[in-house]
Amino acid sequence: MSLTSASLALMIVFAASTAFASDTPAPAPTPASTMPPSYTPMDFSSLLGMPGFSDTLLQNHFKLYQGYVKNTNLVASKLAVTDPTSPEYAELKRRFGWEFDGMRLHELYFGNLGGKAPLSPDAPLYTAIVAQFGSFDAWQADFTATASMRGIGWVVLYQDTSSGGLFNCWINEHDTGHLAGCTPLLVADVFEHAFLTDYGLDKKSYIAAFWKNVNWDAVTLRYKAGNM
Ligand SMILES: [Fe+2]
Repeated sequence: MSLTSASLALMIVFAASTAFASDTPAPAPTPASTMPPSYTPMDFSSLLGMPGFSDTLLQNHFKLYQGYVKNTNLVASKLAVTDPTSPEYAELKRRFGWEFDGMRLHELYFGNLGGKAPLSPDAPLYTAIVAQFGSFDAWQADFTATASMRGIGWVVLYQDTSSGGLFNCWINEHDTGHLAGCTPLLVADVFEHAFLTDYGLDKKSYIAAFWKNVNWDAVTLRYKAGNM
């Protein structure tokens, strides 16, 4: 039996009125992403034996860092399957930056340790520091003063890749105080877990040990000379 065009039109009108009836539940929201990124912990075991840092402290610190990698992946995967209109989604969104920055800042921190030589006065970064701060020592004193602040967080030497400006910044915990669009050059972890095992509350001695182990080659690679 074939449908007449009149009966077909009636069926379409009926179907449409049913689909858009006021008591029809809204379709379930679609998660924003179904392919969360996955990060793998980096291996920093080459730092073991570094003067001024016990292997116990470093091994514990590596484990803590691995926790941030795990949680970054976990939060990303949960976001991919969580209703984006739910309170859980909002809290996961807020949490993601904290976990991600905790992961990335540790990678930058461990990545700029293990050095044995000072920054060469001939290096473009050295020249830029002197041009802005008057001397390398004045810049280093400002970084140290920032690291000595009360609280838990990070100190980051940022380069503003637009102006070339250099800034020693205090980052509260992992996620407050970053400079948008700037490049982190040198990163120091000043959470108590970074030094308590070896130095107790003597943060000053930890910062001194940090300076003795800065890998200036790594820092120099992050610096983009002549891009301003
Ligand atoms: Fe840390």
